[in-house]
Amino acid sequence: MDNIKSYINQHKDRFINELIELLKIPSISADSAFKKDVIKTSEVIKTALEKAGCDLVEICETPGYPIVYGEKIIDPNLPTILVYGHYDVQPADPIDLWDSPPFEPIIKKTEIHPEGAIFARGACDDKGQMYMHVKALEYMTANNNLPCNVKFMIEGEEEVGSESLAWFVERNQEKLANDIILISDTGMISNTQPSISTGLRGLSYVEVEVTGPNRDLHSGLYGGAVANPINVLTKMIASLHDENNHIAIPGFYDNVENLSAEERAEMARAPFSLDDYKKALDIDAVYGEKGYTTNERNSIRPTLDVNGIWGGYIGEGAKTVIASQAFAKISMRLVPNQDWKEITELFKTHFESIAPKGVSVKVKPHHGGQGYVTPIDNIGYKAANKAYTKTFGVEAIPQRSGGSIPIVALFEKELKSKTILMGFGLDSDAIHSPNEHFGVFNYLKGIETIPLFYKYYTEMSK
Ligand code: BES
Ligand code: MN
Ligand code: MN
Repeated sequence: MDNIKSYINQHKDRFINELIELLKIPSISADSAFKKDVIKTSEVIKTALEKAGCDLVEICETPGYPIVYGEKIIDPNLPTILVYGHYDVQPADPIDLWDSPPFEPIIKKTEIHPEGAIFARGACDDKGQMYMHVKALEYMTANNNLPCNVKFMIEGEEEVGSESLAWFVERNQEKLANDIILISDTGMISNTQPSISTGLRGLSYVEVEVTGPNRDLHSGLYGGAVANPINVLTKMIASLHDENNHIAIPGFYDNVENLSAEERAEMARAPFSLDDYKKALDIDAVYGEKGYTTNERNSIRPTLDVNGIWGGYIGEGAKTVIASQAFAKISMRLVPNQDWKEITELFKTHFESIAPKGVSVKVKPHHGGQGYVTPIDNIGYKAANKAYTKTFGVEAIPQRSGGSIPIVALFEKELKSKTILMGFGLDSDAIHSPNEHFGVFNYLKGIETIPLFYKYYTEMSK
């Protein structure tokens, strides 16, 4: 396998250019104006998988965006790896905050990426990370050293809740049968310290609506005499955390698993600098639940955050008005054992119960999903660790991630297999933000590390 390095060296310009072409297509799943682009992206992936050596590639239609399925089965007695990724991306807005247009990829050097990083929406999440797997397969088929069977399942609705994928997985258990699932859609600690995500948080996403008077009112004639929906909504939201930043919804913590002192001490050994963290975000202090460290707050603890809030007059100048309605979008990140449907119900009951007289409140659940944990004594984890150790020269650290990939828990339920989260992105890569990027080093390192996972996993499965 040592010739992987020379193969990458020989082909790296093409690898980068192919990714750049893929990033030019604005496959925004949330916005139907981009429907054609999302579908076009699925076709580009299909062609890429065919060229990389899959024996069979299909575009599988679903009630939503298509799923690209590919496979190369070399021997039914060998293990089968199922690679999952997504070809859809987040909306690019606020566009004004990008230094270069989000769908005109460019390579720029940064302090963290001295070898250059590709700037574009989806560069890291997840086109760049997904495409590493396509190029890793190309290498293995071109050099005749694919050690096991492989299946690819690349979807186009991850950023909007993977509804069609759930539909597809429930109907295609046999087609998707596998021994282990491999995903690169998370991050690692740094370019000198790889880590493997051993957990993902669950999610409950809701929208709330507070309605007061039947029309917008003059704030002089009516102000002070009727409930102002915006005042009420902000007060209700403020009451969702107590003075220690605990979430004040009855029952919210009932199923939260508390880590032992040993487990927390183990977590605290991961390299982390609070000063660098604050500096990177230009903040003078961190903020969060009392009694927990920053790394705990964003991984093993559940959260509640307003993601958007609106109502009333926000145009130029001033308008003296009491709006009839106020709205907010709220996400709750959940930890394993918290059931997202139960939490959604708890939120709804509580939020409706704290509404004062004079307004009516509606809670509309959006999507959600369960959290996920994977033990580090399984051979998938061990193979991944061995692969990172070989290519980075240091062992990977297990780390629970704060993000969510809700479909992973569903894979475990429907396909009965564990998922290994081999991420190569960095938290500073600005996924979902303006100026998203992915290090060229990270991209090529991923392509180098993935074939080793195949090799070690196959060897360890014997
Ligand atoms: N790739 C991310 C999730 C992620 C990023 C996990 C970094 C761990 C580290 C994924 O595309 C994502 O954005 N998921 C959404 C949830 C989904 C239901 C919209 C999220 O976490 O907000
Ligand atoms: Mn992603
Ligand atoms: Mn994402």
